[in-house]
Amino acid sequence: MRWSSARGADHDGKPGVTVKIYIPGDAASLSVGAEEVERAMAREIAVRKLDATIVRNGSRGLFWLEPLVEVETPKGRVAYGPVEAEDVPGLLDAGMLDGKGHRLSLGLTEQIPFLKRQTRLTFARCGVTDPLSLDDYRAHGGWRGLERALALAPQAIVEEVVASGLRGRGGAGFPTGIKWRTVLGAVSEQKYIVCNADEGDSGTYADRMLMEGDPFVLIEGMAIAGIAVGATKGFIYVRSEYPHAFRTLGRAIRIARLNGWLGARVAGSGKAFDLEVRLGAGAYICGEETSLLESLEGKRGQIRPKPPLPALKGLFGQPTVVNNVLSLATVPIILDKGATFYRDFGMGRSRGTLPIQLAGNIKQGGLVEVAFGLTLRQAIEEFGGGTASGRPIRAVQVGGPLGAYFPQELLDTPLDYEAFAAQRGLLGHGGVVVFDDTVDLAHQARFAMEFCAIESCGKCTPCRIGSTRGVETIDRIVAGTERAKNLAVLEDLCDLMLDASLCALGGLTPYPVLSALKHFPEDFHKPAPRLAPAAE
Ligand SMILES: Cc1cc2nc3c(=O)[nH]c(=O)nc-3n(C[C@H](O)[C@H](O)[C@H](O)COP(=O)(O)O)c2cc1C
Ligand code: SF4
Repeated sequence: MRWSSARGADHDGKPGVTVKIYIPGDAASLSVGAEEVERAMAREIAVRKLDATIVRNGSRGLFWLEPLVEVETPKGRVAYGPVEAEDVPGLLDAGMLDGKGHRLSLGLTEQIPFLKRQTRLTFARCGVTDPLSLDDYRAHGGWRGLERALALAPQAIVEEVVASGLRGRGGAGFPTGIKWRTVLGAVSEQKYIVCNADEGDSGTYADRMLMEGDPFVLIEGMAIAGIAVGATKGFIYVRSEYPHAFRTLGRAIRIARLNGWLGARVAGSGKAFDLEVRLGAGAYICGEETSLLESLEGKRGQIRPKPPLPALKGLFGQPTVVNNVLSLATVPIILDKGATFYRDFGMGRSRGTLPIQLAGNIKQGGLVEVAFGLTLRQAIEEFGGGTASGRPIRAVQVGGPLGAYFPQELLDTPLDYEAFAAQRGLLGHGGVVVFDDTVDLAHQARFAMEFCAIESCGKCTPCRIGSTRGVETIDRIVAGTERAKNLAVLEDLCDLMLDASLCALGGLTPYPVLSALKHFPEDFHKPAPRLAPAAE
């Protein structure tokens, strides 16, 4: 979006050079004042009659530096941040439009170590381009994957995705191409592509960043999926807490349709594919794929037993691909550059790159896209800069509210699906939440059970009743009531939930609880809190 442009004498007396200033318009930047910065900048441009234009880009994912303002110079884009509205006149006085120094200068954006050490494949354009400019999208490699897909047979597209080794980024890590193969093989008049943009895991925001910063890549990925499996219709299910992403996607879909990238003849081909975006109702369980499908059909978000798989009997009973935002948004680069290019990144069976989201008690929170295999410690220390409090790290939860708590001794685990599973952990959607040494893991274990009790869809007993009993049992342990007996009850209850829950909400809640018990037993054996004496 280009919001304002004022022309006249140029910033350095040179005529005819319109300088581009980038101010992010995504939700994270808006929450720390990007709108005020944009208004201040537009005002100064008008008053000073500068030949400059403001572009509202997405976030680069360096959240501690937001609002991160960039200016295009002959040497490349130069960054300043975090910028407040009152900094704007001083920045312009210091020669910001020529990339000159200021106390907020960060130098060339691409040379900022946090960014320079990343391998941005899925997020290649995020923060770089104007999210709703088709020209920008095209100029930065957009639509090439779709164009190649249109020249291939459906089977060949699916096999390219299989060969890339791409695994679902929503949590379970299931191979994307294999899922597509099942849907391609299903015989039906109508098939669907459903994008899971419910992103409910604690500490995660990669889906939102991408939908707000590069929506066309998701549209392109979904169109490729549709053409590959023979689906003509797609839905993006966006969580209700993401109004900016919802709006941006709606606009992007309209622009793509008007320009022939969606509709009855995708890119002038004989293939049809169109999209709708739907807002969820705000339940964690609606992120689980069968519950999401119920919700999309207008029903209460409750789990459907599997089988049948959604790939065979999904939305409105038809064969359906359900994939996470990042899985679908990674497909265009795979089709464009080839499966081998993508699978050359990574380790073991975890191929390509993982967008890690650093959150919690962390100095430099933000998005880090790197090849699988970086250790958790490297992510936290080399990118995150350690804790925000400056205190030692005590625990790290990876994979959302159902992920295990890792102690210091496990921080050298590589970010890889199998390595995490071997430690009874979960890579999930790549959320990393850091805690310092003030955290109480008995409290966190209670939180996990309470979260499950609140979010349970209620369909099966181990989860619906078990989570409530779990909260009560942890309360008794913390209160010092028959500790040994209640610890045994808690472990027993966790075993039951692991084995007998119908879906992974109840089935994985024991992970944070058992990891807290295993790695931080001392927190369950503290002296019981004393009751305050009653007032006389
Ligand atoms: C309780 C629960 C919540 C989930 N939430 C999400 C979510 O917010 N986003 C997501 O993509 N997958 C979520 N999943 C995983 C989905 O069920 C499903 O595996 C995924 O959408 C498949 O896409 P993928 O193969 O591309 O990962 C959740 C699973 C469970 C059990
Ligand atoms: S485990 Fe919980 S959320 Fe899943 S089906 Fe059972 S009650 Fe519902």
